[in-house]
Amino acid sequence: MIFELSDEHKMMRDMVREFAEAELAPSAAERDERECFDRALMFDRLAELGLAGVVFPEEYGGAGADYLSYAIVVEELSRVCASTGVTLSAHVSLGANPIYKFGTEEQKQKFLRPLAEGSKLGAFGLTETGAGSDAGGTRTTAVRDGDAWVLNGSKIFITNGGDAETYVVFARTDKSAQKHHGISAFIVEKGTPGFSFGKKESKMGIRSSPTMELIFDNCRIPLDNLLGEEGKGFKVAMQTLDGGRIGIASQALGIAQGAFDAAINYARERKQFDQPIANFQGVQFMLADMATQIEAARLVVYQAAYKASAGVPFSKESAMAKLLASETAMAVTTKAVQVFGGYGYTREYPVERMMRDAKITEIYEGTSEVQRLVIGTAVTRG
Ligand code: CAA
Repeated sequence: MIFELSDEHKMMRDMVREFAEAELAPSAAERDERECFDRALMFDRLAELGLAGVVFPEEYGGAGADYLSYAIVVEELSRVCASTGVTLSAHVSLGANPIYKFGTEEQKQKFLRPLAEGSKLGAFGLTETGAGSDAGGTRTTAVRDGDAWVLNGSKIFITNGGDAETYVVFARTDKSAQKHHGISAFIVEKGTPGFSFGKKESKMGIRSSPTMELIFDNCRIPLDNLLGEEGKGFKVAMQTLDGGRIGIASQALGIAQGAFDAAINYARERKQFDQPIANFQGVQFMLADMATQIEAARLVVYQAAYKASAGVPFSKESAMAKLLASETAMAVTTKAVQVFGGYGYTREYPVERMMRDAKITEIYEGTSEVQRLVIGTAVTRG
């Protein structure tokens, strides 16, 4: 159990909070409105601060920090701009981490190092039109042909899609195998002939984070770009998502905290019936519930992050963290809009954006229903 952050964790939190408030906050609403991914601000600046490879060892260009630091970073970014939070989360957890965990030394030097240093942006291609919650339903294929793997198919809803340079992509290498068997993971670089981008999604929330379709049309990649063992890609995906869910849980926690902070400030200033609305019990009860839910979510998220660094199993804990934090984000942002009343429903204040941003945390990297499935399986297995 963790009850107090170390001085290092507090320093990390303060540094990222200062950056987020000074540099991300001023443009967050406008970037949301214009669906604008400002890479220089939302990724290159993070790299300059040493955050692009926060959890990876220094020998691969990372900062060598632990998962709790990573959770704090994503939380603080998302407290101000959830789109920047998910940019980093998808880059670190989904793009770079599978290469760190399953890559050969050569793959780590070639692909992980630029990701960790932040000269390249990473992404993860698992979801397909017919394979969302059913990740084992992958239809994209990879066939060995001489000195190459040839990929055909498409992936949808890819965070950082189009802007990222390095993609971890899942494809079926054994067509005779059923369900999750016979799937393999690959590293595909932007610019490879046969790899192009399709539809860019226009979304309810996280609108300044790009979400794009990936298309593979006889895309030839070197045999060396197979990541992990042939046919074992489903486990690469599942273990990657175990870590990714801590990132999204942290994003959700940050959104909730941002909405709570805005609601508290507003409740202290807004006067009705000749006094601040914070004096009214009806408002205080909402704020009390919000504070309590955030406190509970934070403990569970930090606990999962702690376990991820301690080298003990954390699949159940990361699913619990994502489930609790995302449902907390939805509940807290909805209440924050209520505290603001009519103003909360307008774009003049950030809480309506936060409420729209919160919704995706209950959906991507496994819906709340998938998290319950993972937790349910873990607790009934005995
Ligand atoms: N770690 C290691 N192995 C695991 C595992 C884990 N966390 N979870 C499952 N496995 C293994 C199982 O042990 C089993 O292994 P064996 O074949 O050796 O028995 C195998 O994988 C299959 O397990 P299941 O039978 O449980 O698999 P399933 O097909 O029933 O699926 C599921 C389970 C939990 C529903 C899974 O498909 C899942 O997580 N779905 C959601 C996918 C998801 O999160 N997608 C989001 C995409 S990323 C994203 O959102 C984009 C973005 O950019 C943000």
